[in-house]
Amino acid sequence: MAGDKENDASGGSGTPPGMHPSFMNVLKTKERIKQKLSAVKHKIGIYSAKGGVGKTTVSVNIAYALSARGFKVGLLDADIDCPNLSIFLGIDNMMDISSFPLKPIEKYGIKVASTAMIVDDAKRPIIWRGPIIVKMLYDFFENTDWGDLDYLIMDLPPGTSDAPLTIMQVLDMDGFVIVTTPQRVAGINSIRSGLMAKRLNAAVLGVVENMSSGEPSKSTGVVVSTLGTRLLGTVKMNPVFGAASDEGRVPASENDDILRMFDTIVDSLVLQDKKEGSP
Ligand SMILES: Nc1ncnc2c1ncn2[C@@H]1O[C@H](COP(=O)(O)OP(=O)(O)OP(=O)(O)O)[C@@H](O)[C@H]1O
Ligand SMILES: [Mg+2]
Repeated sequence: MAGDKENDASGGSGTPPGMHPSFMNVLKTKERIKQKLSAVKHKIGIYSAKGGVGKTTVSVNIAYALSARGFKVGLLDADIDCPNLSIFLGIDNMMDISSFPLKPIEKYGIKVASTAMIVDDAKRPIIWRGPIIVKMLYDFFENTDWGDLDYLIMDLPPGTSDAPLTIMQVLDMDGFVIVTTPQRVAGINSIRSGLMAKRLNAAVLGVVENMSSGEPSKSTGVVVSTLGTRLLGTVKMNPVFGAASDEGRVPASENDDILRMFDTIVDSLVLQDKKEGSP
């Protein structure tokens, strides 16, 4: 009989025997988000546990290079409490939060969503505990009108806690691009980042060495070999990046050499998709 707890192995919770109820909740959330994002073909995270290595820089330029090839691209600022994407893209508008679904704001033909377009953080710091950060991420996954997308690129925050953990647990990601710099301290934290993804059964798509001389460093070689992945490309140290991000311009949109560097990275990502039989 329906609702007969004595005959229900889960004791009425709906949780299969041997499975913890909170894990069951993760599976249910995962399924719900999968349905909501079913029109998004590829989801790629740009990640490093180390701050300041260039995750946001790599995110906006990869998104631009994909968009320039005619792909439909979305860019999610998964750095919920220190959002920077809108600064790098020169977006001053705020999203209308009076009703769901939230509408991303378009720049360079890319659909962008960020808490900086919800809370004006220049005047008000975003001081949220983990559960609120996770709730905001869920709104970006479930209650945001991304439409049909070829690629949703996610700019992750540093660290290994709430946002990266949530994204790795509840989204069906294609995988993560690990950003590092030539220094050993960045390499050590990049290895930590890639191993976190692997521990949570998410793929490491490759490594980008940012702020590079052009020749990957010994430390980057160790990152690539320890993670059993490949170098997607190097992005040279160039003051143009700092100036452009301060002024809200994407360097790949105005500098052919920089676009070429990101095209090499995108070539590897797109080729990888082709091998797997996607567009
Ligand atoms: N290749 C480069 N050459 C010179 N400056 C760069 C380069 N890449 C990034 N920068 C600059 O370094 C600073 C940090 O970059 P960015 O904000 O992209 O790092 P991040 O990893 O996203 O930082 P956070 O951990 O705070 O999110 C920015 O001012 C950016 O313009
Ligand atoms: Mg950043």
